[in-house]
Amino acid sequence: MSKKTNTTFTMIKPDAFKDGNSGEILAMIEKAGFRIVAGKVTQLSLEKAGEFYAVHSQRPFYKDLCAYMSSGPIFAAILEGQNAVERYRKLIGATDPKNAEEGTIRKKFARSIEANAVHGSDSDENADIESAFFFSSFEQFSAK
Ligand code: CMP
Repeated sequence: MSKKTNTTFTMIKPDAFKDGNSGEILAMIEKAGFRIVAGKVTQLSLEKAGEFYAVHSQRPFYKDLCAYMSSGPIFAAILEGQNAVERYRKLIGATDPKNAEEGTIRKKFARSIEANAVHGSDSDENADIESAFFFSSFEQFSAK
């Protein structure tokens, strides 16, 4: 299977940002071989959080998730690397930190399934949609 270089999208969620864990999380990301090609501190409105997570709008946790994700600043970033989506999902670990493996970002920093430290795109298509939600193409840089 060929391993092409591509991108994924991540957010350091309000709990991890507020706890001052962004630096350590970004260090784990860089140590794992990803390049940060766009990044910013921002805060979602309730409406924007609802739009971002629209795919979950029928799930019982949707309302709480949107309230939580708009509750404070986050760090949004685009990461570049080989097989970025799949490799980044391995690095962050399972959605529920109880199931996250040792050495993953969620194992180390997540408080709960909702306040689970970071988001990572689940497909190349969603990585592009989610990246465009936060960044325009001229805000992205490749440091090759
Ligand atoms: P994330 O990867 O950002 O994508 C959707 C989020 O919904 C997920 O991380 C969790 O933080 C949140 N969530 C809250 N409850 C659940 C649940 N029961 N199952 C899956 N995701 C949940």
